[in-house]
Amino acid sequence: MKAVTWQEKRKVAVKEVPDPVIQEPTDAVIKITSTAICGSDLHLYEVMTPFMEKDDIMGHEPMGIVQEVGSQVKHIKVGDRVVVPFNIACGACAMCKKGLTTQCEVTQVKDMDRGAALFGYTKLYGHVPGGQAEYLRVPHADFMAKKVPEGPPDERFLYLSDVLPTAWQAVKYANIPENNTVAVIGLGPIGEMATRVAAHQGAERIIGIDLVPERLERAKSHGVDVIDVRDFEGDQQALAQAVRDKLGGRSPEAVIDAVGMEAHGSPNVKAMQHLTGMLPDKAAQKVFTTAGMDRLFALHSGIEMVGRGGTLSLVGVYAGQADPISLDALFDKQVQVRMGQANAPFWTQEILPLLVDDNTFDVENFATHRLTLDEAPNAYEIFQKKQDNAFKIVLKP
Ligand SMILES: NC(=O)c1ccc[n+]([C@@H]2O[C@H](COP(=O)([O-])OP(=O)(O)OC[C@H]3O[C@@H](n4cnc5c(N)ncnc54)[C@H](O)[C@@H]3O)[C@@H](O)[C@H]2O)c1
Ligand SMILES: [Zn+2]
Ligand SMILES: [Zn+2]
Repeated sequence: MKAVTWQEKRKVAVKEVPDPVIQEPTDAVIKITSTAICGSDLHLYEVMTPFMEKDDIMGHEPMGIVQEVGSQVKHIKVGDRVVVPFNIACGACAMCKKGLTTQCEVTQVKDMDRGAALFGYTKLYGHVPGGQAEYLRVPHADFMAKKVPEGPPDERFLYLSDVLPTAWQAVKYANIPENNTVAVIGLGPIGEMATRVAAHQGAERIIGIDLVPERLERAKSHGVDVIDVRDFEGDQQALAQAVRDKLGGRSPEAVIDAVGMEAHGSPNVKAMQHLTGMLPDKAAQKVFTTAGMDRLFALHSGIEMVGRGGTLSLVGVYAGQADPISLDALFDKQVQVRMGQANAPFWTQEILPLLVDDNTFDVENFATHRLTLDEAPNAYEIFQKKQDNAFKIVLKP
């Protein structure tokens, strides 16, 4: 089959690779009909280079048709239409029963001291082949392959793989208070969807912050009050003040950071990420564990912005193990911080009913680009450089 494979920093290639096969009686193999590129794939494309291996198959946002099932699979059958959430979980252990599928006790990557395995997400997360391919092996298929109705186009359901459950968790964890105000930092697919979920859950004031004009415009078009972070270059205090100015002088009690480790506005760490990427893998991995490797402008903005007693929901991915952050501000303001990978297979069950009869969150118009698998190298490039208005790209194998 054909698959999108990682080759080197900022280079993916579509290659012929062996077809996946059933390895366990609980597996299924699906034929992929739509598969999206995520902001998380961009971290692998560049900054996470030390953890990648040549020919790793990318992708964790797939849906398709069941092609084959193992002997113990009972809830899905050949021909069913399914979407597969990105974190791999058994659905039956104590963690899964609590809804913490990212900590699944069966799929935790113990030799790396990590939580649950992820599709297409490096050896840190189980080295599982990803879903930007023609076929995908789905472990624990009874729980992981979520059956969706026939009829509506793929994009009605595709975002159950990641964007929707992730935005859903970001909003839940933000604990939006009774005055119904939330600030969302970063208006990529995750932040943008978080603004839509927050509105759907009753938030009245939503402030969205980014620097890409089309992304600001998109959020504004459905009632988000937007701020261009470029007006506050390097100045978190001034940015936080601009947010307060919009709220009659009060700080938002709920803030979502939907940016993560590659935030604009942290030039020194950007240079270090670049230099680290040029070291041999082992040495570079060491730097990740001993130095502050994340670009923290968005996180620091969130800490500065959030009101006393409020909640900071971190949904953007951070990976540095020695990042400097202001515990003083968090402690003194008594901020609650919630974070983590989204428990995607768990939330999917809650969100799916909203999509069965309606194009809720306008998911069918969410993508800006629909391309073939062969066009993946260009798709990664324009998505990373934010060219050609690329916002969300769906590949059609
Ligand atoms: N927790 C999870 O399970 C999970 C799941 C999916 C994605 N993610 C993460 O969420 C983040 C966003 O993903 P995405 O697909 O929307 O990616 P994206 O890269 O398209 O979006 C990031 C957005 O942040 C903006 N930005 C950069 N610096 C900023 C700053 N200083 N202030 C305000 N905005 C800034 C960018 O312009 C961009 O629009 C990524 O870190 C991704 O890895 C996490
Ligand atoms: Zn994703
Ligand atoms: Zn489990």
